[in-house]
Amino acid sequence: MYDSDKIIPGLIIFVLFITFPVWYNHGDASAEPKPELPKGVKECVLPVADMRAEHMQLLNKWRDEVLRDGDWAFDVKVAGKKYQKSLMNTCMECHKSRKKFCEKCHKYASVTPYCWDCHFAPVE
Ligand code: HEC
Ligand code: HEC
Ligand code: HEC
Repeated sequence: MYDSDKIIPGLIIFVLFITFPVWYNHGDASAEPKPELPKGVKECVLPVADMRAEHMQLLNKWRDEVLRDGDWAFDVKVAGKKYQKSLMNTCMECHKSRKKFCEKCHKYASVTPYCWDCHFAPVE
C-alpha cells in the first residue's frame, strides 16, 4: 500500500508548483491597472505623474475656463504644440479608448465619472 501521509502533501506542493505562474500573474494583474497607452506619442499634456494624480482637477479647470470665459486655449505647450481645452478633442484624440484607458483605472479605483452622460467617447 502507499503512504498517504507523504503522498497527499506531496501532491499539494506539486499542484501549487505547477500552477504558480497562473495565480502569481493573476495576483499581479489585479494589483495594478494597466491602461493602454497611445502609440506613436510619447508625452501627455502634462508630465505623466501630474496627469496620474491630477487629471480630474485639470478637466474641471478646463471645463470651467471654457464655460465661464469661453477660453479654449491651453497654455502649456507639449512638443511645441498647443492643445484645445477639450475632453473629446484633446484627451480622447490620443487616448482613443475609454474602455482600455480611462476605465482600466476607474474600475480598479471604483470611480464612475458621470462625464459620459453628456460627452461622447470615441466609438469603439
Ligand atoms: C498628445 C497626446 C495626448 C493627449 C492630448 C493626452 N494624453 Fe494623456 N498620455 C499620453 C501619453 C503618451 C501618456 C503616457 C506618458 C508616459 O508614460 O510618460 C499619457 C498618460 C496619461 C495618464 C497616466 C497614465 C498612466 O499609465 O499612469 C493619464 C491619467 C492621462 N494621460 C490622461 C489624459 C487626459 C485626462 C487628457 C486630457 C486632459 C490627456 N491624457 C491628453 C498622451 C496624451
Ligand atoms: C492611471 C489611472 C487612470 C487613468 C488612465 C484615468 N484615470 Fe481618471 N481617475 C483615476 C483615479 C484613481 C480617480 C479617482 C481619484 C480620486 O478620487 O482622487 C480618477 C478620477 C477621475 C475623475 C473624477 C471622477 C470622480 O467621480 O471624482 C474624472 C472626471 C476622470 N478620472 C476622468 C478621466 C478620463 C476622461 C480618463 C481617460 C482619458 C481618465 N480619467 C483616465 C485614475 C485614472
Ligand atoms: C449634463 C451634461 C454634462 C455633463 C454630465 C458633463 N459635461 Fe462637460 N460639458 C457639457 C457641455 C454642454 C459643455 C460645453 C460644450 C461646448 O461648448 O462645446 C461641456 C464642456 C466641457 C469641457 C470643455 C469643452 C470640451 O469640449 O471638452 C470639459 C473639459 C468638460 N466639459 C469636462 C467634463 C467632465 C470632466 C465631466 C465629468 C466630470 C463633464 N464634463 C460632465 C456638458 C456636460
